[in-house]
Amino acid sequence: MNLISDHPFLTLLTTLAVAAWMASVCGSPGFTRTFPREGWSVRLAFLGWCGVSMGSWWYLPAALPWLLCVALGVGVIVVLVDLRSGRRAHDSPPGRLSVLRGIRALARRDYYLHEFDRHGGFFKMSQFGQPTICVLGLDRIGRLIKGHSEYLGPSTLPISKSVEGSFLRYMPPETHAVYGRLFRIAMTEPFAATQTDRLDHLCEHHLQRFSAGESSPYPALQAIARRSLNCLLLGFDADTKEEARFDELAQKFSKAGISRSLVRRDQEMLAEMRELLLEKVDSNVPGPEDIDDTSVLARLRQQDPTMPDRICLDNMIVMHRIATGNVSSLLSWLLYRWATESSITAEIHDEDPETRGSSLRLFLMETLRTSQSEYLYRRVAREFEFEGHRFPKGWLVRGCVWESHRTAEGIDEPARFRLRRAAAKPSRRQFAPLGMGAHACNGGEVNELICLAFLNRIAHAGELRVTCADPLRREMRHWSHWQPNAAMQLKLGATG
Ligand code: HEM
Repeated sequence: MNLISDHPFLTLLTTLAVAAWMASVCGSPGFTRTFPREGWSVRLAFLGWCGVSMGSWWYLPAALPWLLCVALGVGVIVVLVDLRSGRRAHDSPPGRLSVLRGIRALARRDYYLHEFDRHGGFFKMSQFGQPTICVLGLDRIGRLIKGHSEYLGPSTLPISKSVEGSFLRYMPPETHAVYGRLFRIAMTEPFAATQTDRLDHLCEHHLQRFSAGESSPYPALQAIARRSLNCLLLGFDADTKEEARFDELAQKFSKAGISRSLVRRDQEMLAEMRELLLEKVDSNVPGPEDIDDTSVLARLRQQDPTMPDRICLDNMIVMHRIATGNVSSLLSWLLYRWATESSITAEIHDEDPETRGSSLRLFLMETLRTSQSEYLYRRVAREFEFEGHRFPKGWLVRGCVWESHRTAEGIDEPARFRLRRAAAKPSRRQFAPLGMGAHACNGGEVNELICLAFLNRIAHAGELRVTCADPLRREMRHWSHWQPNAAMQLKLGATG
């Protein structure tokens, strides 16, 4: 302590240096561009810390050693977390388990690509203190995930704990064998043209205001996704009293975070939504000839008269909640791409509206490939070895799908957005936006129906202008998706 009080200026400099080292992570210009609120808060906190430290040096030197202890204490915690992560890291892939590096990575979309360039197909990193092995290449990710299912468990979202029987993606294998199959059949049966017409009507309704003036498209995109799912998944006809009630609950339920268990109020909402779905399915018993024009919920009953049980109902509601987020975010990417890929959209505009469908489908696929799909996460349940690397128990595995799409071999300029017609069409080794294996997405058809109805609508609009869509943004979590900026504005020409 004497050493510290004898050299107050050195103590001040050390106090500031430790704080600057930590603030440089979250207060850097790059970080602040992606996370303005967090970046500016850290900058302000750092300035405050500088003020307090200098004030103490000038007026109250006796307090300075305590400030140094606080700064060093935080620094030591960071170092200890890194050391703890690295304890069982021998023979694991190359890379550094540094919490601060992991936080810095959040703001860089090219971080994973950069690390793969350096280390090859595998590297390790720390995601808020959680050691994570990142893997490149769809073929390799497929062999890893499908070939090691007994060693790899899900990386479960906390909301799943509040779902009866757990959410499909995280169910124990024996439960998934029953419910996974039931849902997959119900969701992949063809849908009827009448349902496409309903989606078209919803898109037209929610997009019409953008012909009058520029405004944020996000509320409309959320409404299109949510209400389309009300129709396709649950069978609610738009603008009926029962749809309005369910929609109101669904909007409130969307505020329940998926990264925590449901609180009592959310559980009450879940119970009310469950009741509405039961009433819906009991009041509407379609015959087998109506299969095309029925919702996924009704198809569960058609498959098995004892269904939907509580596991199905809870899964439908949480699926509706998560899929609304997935689909509306994809719709925002479709807008962004439509506005930025002007030569491609001009080409589509010039096509005959009757035959435009296949180009719109390619446009959707390319948007999924280059923008929306990002990763597959798993947790190592039992240690194993793969391609010469040890995968320690408890670590996370991140299959880097976005990076694999951008570096896939045998595809022309994979990092570029193009309509990949016939010969250039990507294979499964080059394109897997909806996952793979037993837990691959079963919402592909539903997703495609909604997105194509949306694309058809904007293709009819004379002109589309998107502003303030950059810089791209995400939430401060490694598993959150990149999206166009929250300030994005949309203006449409008159629809034809
Ligand atoms: C933007 C659109 C979408 C994307 C990019 C997407 C992506 C994915 C991916 C990558 C998985 C696999 C996750 C894993 O293996 O860890 C998955 C699973 C799943 N998705 Fe989607 N999804 C989308 C839309 C939807 C929609 C619209 C629905 C429902 C209507 C849906 C329902 C599901 C379900 C239930 C699973 C788990 C399946 C199971 O475990 O049996 N998804 N999705």
